Amino acid sequence: MSLIEFQNVSFVDGDKAILKNISVNIEKGDFISIVGPSGGGKSTFLKLCSHLISPTNGNVVFKGKNYTEYSPMELRKSIAYCFQTPYLFGDTVLENINFPFSIRNEKLDQERVIDIFSMFHMSIDYLDKNTQNLSGGEKQRIALIRSLLFMPEVLLLDEVTSALDAENAKIVENVIASLNGEGVTVLWITHNLEQSRKYANKLLTIEAGEVKSLEVLK
Ligand SMILES: Nc1ncnc2c1ncn2[C@@H]1O[C@H](COP(=O)(O)OP(=O)(O)OP(=O)(O)O)[C@@H](O)[C@H]1O
Ligand SMILES: [Mg+2]
Repeated sequence: MSLIEFQNVSFVDGDKAILKNISVNIEKGDFISIVGPSGGGKSTFLKLCSHLISPTNGNVVFKGKNYTEYSPMELRKSIAYCFQTPYLFGDTVLENINFPFSIRNEKLDQERVIDIFSMFHMSIDYLDKNTQNLSGGEKQRIALIRSLLFMPEVLLLDEVTSALDAENAKIVENVIASLNGEGVTVLWITHNLEQSRKYANKLLTIEAGEVKSLEVLK
């Protein structure tokens, strides 16, 4: 059984077909890079994977059950999604870091927070910072940390290294590759061709709303 299955999925807005009849199987442990021209439908595909939007036609199935059969909270706990434009809320970084704990009625786990900041080579002094004063690359990493405080089953990443310098991109890539090594299924959109082939076992090309190819890399 596939972990996530797209069954003849279309997403239409008005009279514009943004995704057309997509059928794809995502297996547990996959690391899939999603590439293709701008405007082709990559982010829309990932939003469907996260249940942020629902298909106009067809089904998206997670572990054999249609997404619509799960509560939004269940899916949110299993499937983490990082936006193309990082979205932080509230005033401070701490509010964002505390959020995944508070929605689970848990107290902030300081050790976990310290660990994860060090994985990203970031100081925990960031916690007190105002989110508005962060650089784009800092926002990206805080959003990523927020989504990884609790280990997801599936990690959906939309160009999460686009604002990072080479060194920090490498740090993030290594964290993601090691999570995949621990069994997390990863789907990430990237425009960086070298990045797209380095860690992935499959390369999904989406063009003009259609799956152009699904290449097995290793
Ligand atoms: N909710 C929506 N309503 C209407 N049009 C949309 C919606 N979401 C996306 N689009 C349009 O669908 C097309 C695909 O958008 P999408 O964001 O999925 O592309 P993309 O492949 O991620 O592009 P990029 O590489 O530039 O991020 C675009 O033409 C976009 O303007
Ligand atoms: Mg996009």
